[in-house]
Amino acid sequence: MRGRLFVTFLWLTGLSVLITGLLVSFLMRAAYMDSLGERMGKEGQLLAKSLDWESTAPGKPNFRRQTRLYSQTLDAHVTLMDKNGDVLSDSDQRSKKGKNNKNNSAVKRILQKKERSTYERVVTDNQLAVYVPVDYNGERKGVLRITVELDSINHSLRQVWVSMIIGLIFAYAVAALVSSRLASRFTRPIEEITQVAVDVARNKYHRRIPVKKQDEIGRLATAINRMGAGLRYQLETIRKSERRLTGVIETMESGLLMVDAEGKVTVANQAILSLFDLGSTSLINKSLTDLPVFHELQGLVHHCKESQESVRDELHLYFPTERILAASLTPIWGGETTGMGVVIVLHDITPIRYLEKLRTEFVANVSHELKTPVTSLRGFAETLLDGGVDDPKMRREFLEIIHFESLRLERLIGDLLDLSKIESRKVRLNVVKVSIDDLLRPTIKTMEEEIRKLDLQLHMKGERGFNVRVDPDRFSQIVINLVANAMAYTPAGGSITLTTGVEESSWWLQVEDTGIGIPSEDLPRIFERFYRVDKARSRDSGGTGLGLAIVKHLVEAHRGTIDVESQVGEKTGFTLRFPR
Ligand SMILES: Nc1ncnc2c1ncn2[C@@H]1O[C@H](COP(=O)(O)OP(=O)(O)O)[C@@H](O)[C@H]1O
Ligand SMILES: [Mg+2]
Repeated sequence: MRGRLFVTFLWLTGLSVLITGLLVSFLMRAAYMDSLGERMGKEGQLLAKSLDWESTAPGKPNFRRQTRLYSQTLDAHVTLMDKNGDVLSDSDQRSKKGKNNKNNSAVKRILQKKERSTYERVVTDNQLAVYVPVDYNGERKGVLRITVELDSINHSLRQVWVSMIIGLIFAYAVAALVSSRLASRFTRPIEEITQVAVDVARNKYHRRIPVKKQDEIGRLATAINRMGAGLRYQLETIRKSERRLTGVIETMESGLLMVDAEGKVTVANQAILSLFDLGSTSLINKSLTDLPVFHELQGLVHHCKESQESVRDELHLYFPTERILAASLTPIWGGETTGMGVVIVLHDITPIRYLEKLRTEFVANVSHELKTPVTSLRGFAETLLDGGVDDPKMRREFLEIIHFESLRLERLIGDLLDLSKIESRKVRLNVVKVSIDDLLRPTIKTMEEEIRKLDLQLHMKGERGFNVRVDPDRFSQIVINLVANAMAYTPAGGSITLTTGVEESSWWLQVEDTGIGIPSEDLPRIFERFYRVDKARSRDSGGTGLGLAIVKHLVEAHRGTIDVESQVGEKTGFTLRFPR
């Protein structure tokens, strides 16, 4: 554009300069010829008047002298002709005498003309000739011709031409410079606008066009600036919501997968990668059929696309761990380019399923645990009713069993109620600041007697005199359960040791016995409800199988931890640790 403008400017200036040059030189030459011709005419007329016709009668030497005189004065070639056109005299001696100029049109015209003051001018390439009539006594006697060579004139005209051409070249150069400046002034704003438009097309919006004038270009620049700002704002908004969306998708706990009409993955979040143990593999643009891990999913995707309806199902994964995923597939119209795709949301419901299983098992366990004492109660009661009552020895024994079983049943129901209260978080801890001695002593006191009866030793060790923050009733429940277990699983002659300790940010309590111990394969399960290593032994000891489950819940309610260490046939130790 700039180049084209510049060339056009050059053409225009060049052409106009050339035309003016030609016109000026032509006019100059014409004007010069005019004034020269006129002057020569006047001079010729003067000469013709002063010509003494009598004394210059044909043939007389005076005649030539006069013409030569004139010629010298005027620095011109002077010729005198009679009315027939014959040359009477010529200032140039070399020119032929007696030459007839009758047929010379200028001569003819002059001879015919009546006016006295007249002349004829004839211009040839290198000569200017003026014809003047010669009148004597009112009679036309002949014609006087004055000729000048135009050599010198042409020479000076050439010089004018040369200087004019130099001037023209100079003018042309100036014009070129100016036009180049002008062109760039016209095109610079357009170049700037183009640059900004190109930037906008490349998604760069920071550049603005400086608007200097409110002309057409200025308005265009303003419009482009506004467009850039508008696009930038819109892009910002889009990016912001995209970031938000990506953030949500990435932090989602559920796995999200989106496939397009061709079955290629367009969106896959982090959760899906961890669910299928894919590490940091990129799934984007991969075809679902090329990914064996999603084998089970492919059928569902197909079904969803075919039916154009949402599909819900469960997927079972066996690798890397066994898991159950709830899959929800929804068809989604992704626009002309993407076509009909499918959004897949996968939710890991393994924990839910596990809890459900636990609950069913628990219900079954509870029913079973309740049924056993009830069956035994019924059996002994029936035996008594069937006549056993009459045997005093049998009556006492059976009534004692019935008493023992009903106590166990009461404990079981009590434990169950406790557990359900603690699990449903209905128990509110009444935390108070209490010294460790005040906390343990009353609890131990209630059990001392029984411990002695079982022929066991009870030791208290460790640091004392520090304060703790606990719910004393609930804490005593913890200690009673642990000591009761130690009593139940330690043969006579053994010992139970309670050790306390305090550290900077925590304190601990250990309940250790020298009992039968727990096999290491059972250790991880002993906190489960109704889990017992030896069912019969637990029953005989009057245990419910819920003690440790209650203990664990209560310890956790105090934000503490419980650990167990044991060696079969040697010892078992439970360590509780609480924050201070
Ligand atoms: N001090 C211990 N020594 C040996 N085994 C223990 C001890 N404490 C608990 N156990 C084992 O853990 C099981 C669960 O304990 P618990 O929940 O208190 O139920 P139980 O009513 O049987 O005592 C017990 O049946 C027993 O097998
Ligand atoms: Mg117990």
